[in-house]
Amino acid sequence: MATTSADNRGTWNSKFGFILAAAGSAVGLGNIWRFPTEAASNGGAAFLIIYLICCFLIGFPIMIAELSIGRNSQKNPVGAFKSLSNNKFFPLVGMWGILCGVMILSFYTIIAGWTFSYVFVEIFTFTGMNEAAAFIGDFNNGFVNAIFAILFMGCTIGIIRGGVSEGIERATKLMMPLLVLILIIMTVYVLFQPGAQEGIRAYLLPDFSKITTGLVLAALGQAFFSLSLGMGALITYGSYLSKKENIVEAAGYVTISDVGIAFLAGLLIMPSIFLAQSQGVVIYNEAGDFLAGPSLIFQILPELFSQMGGILGLVFGVSFFFLLSLAALTSTVSLLEVPTSYVIDEHGVRRKKAALGVGLSVLAVSLIISFNTSLIDHIDYIFSTVGLPLGGLLICIFVGYYWKTTSAIDEIKNGFKDAADSWFTTAWSVFIKFICPVLILIILIRTIF
Ligand code: PHE
Repeated sequence: MATTSADNRGTWNSKFGFILAAAGSAVGLGNIWRFPTEAASNGGAAFLIIYLICCFLIGFPIMIAELSIGRNSQKNPVGAFKSLSNNKFFPLVGMWGILCGVMILSFYTIIAGWTFSYVFVEIFTFTGMNEAAAFIGDFNNGFVNAIFAILFMGCTIGIIRGGVSEGIERATKLMMPLLVLILIIMTVYVLFQPGAQEGIRAYLLPDFSKITTGLVLAALGQAFFSLSLGMGALITYGSYLSKKENIVEAAGYVTISDVGIAFLAGLLIMPSIFLAQSQGVVIYNEAGDFLAGPSLIFQILPELFSQMGGILGLVFGVSFFFLLSLAALTSTVSLLEVPTSYVIDEHGVRRKKAALGVGLSVLAVSLIISFNTSLIDHIDYIFSTVGLPLGGLLICIFVGYYWKTTSAIDEIKNGFKDAADSWFTTAWSVFIKFICPVLILIILIRTIF
């Protein structure tokens, strides 16, 4: 995105640039840290199935809705709702989205910091500096958490200050295929280890009796989190999208790559859990309750790398955590871009100042979390698991009943000529007006009450 236009807004350099940026936003810790953790704590395969249903039947239509709102209004989430309807309530939905984004970013920065710190843990372990490895790899050390969070937020602010630059588009282009390649190699390695079958079974053979309302909400929240939906990130990214592009096609690419990478990560992590357990790493207690929490992947993956042994383990370990840090960076960039674009558009602040101000405020929250990591689960539950689907529900109501799906389809027509007569957009309207909001509402109500 170049920020050269007079109004301080830019557009993506190319269609590929947009898809990369949107996929960069979607693919991140959500796929490789959050998805396997949620799956492992919700019984594996049952969670996977509900998650896939949520991504394709609820997430994908809402992604199209967010992109159309963004491209039509050319605004940040609050400005977009203001300009597309006179209703006074909906700008508050934009504010809610911004709040969710800010709170998600505050803990995301900590996990991203852990990811980057594990690059060093791998190196120190390899070189026999075990004390240094233990020091840096200690999740309960608030000081270390804070240093890495500052580092990560610093990089995020730097990128946002320059506008989402070509640099990050290029980095994503290289990084994502490499990350996928490493994931595939590691998965193949794990699947051939004796004892892996039990993990594959847990991941792929659903036990439908495990489906509870809690599981369904967790899967729905995970779909929103992973696809970057419900808080206006894709309204904002859509506002930089050129009229030539086909929104439906772009949303399709983003959804499929995001879901594909999460699926692959599960295929790696679930069997690894069983292997790690056979080596004495405690993930479930005797009653079968999940104990590992947000540090799950940092407990089991290093185990795997050390098992691979020697230089091979080092190369895989370092590249894995480094690439995952980059994937996290393209997500933190999108999380910070939303409140920043709001401050730029609605309060007339310059981009550089806005990015710094918002970034440092979020960092203040991250620093509190650094010293109280047990807050992560609570903030994550309120603002991701509940907050994002709630935002998604309100976006459906807005597009379905206030802005109207016919206006959205008019917007989709740019870049998708036959949109008005296509079965796809007819079905999409039905999903946005009825199926998605009703499903989300039922799930939210049943879990909360
Ligand atoms: N989708 C990102 C991930 O999976 C996280 C994110 C959530 C980014 C919401 C933007 C908005 O890591």
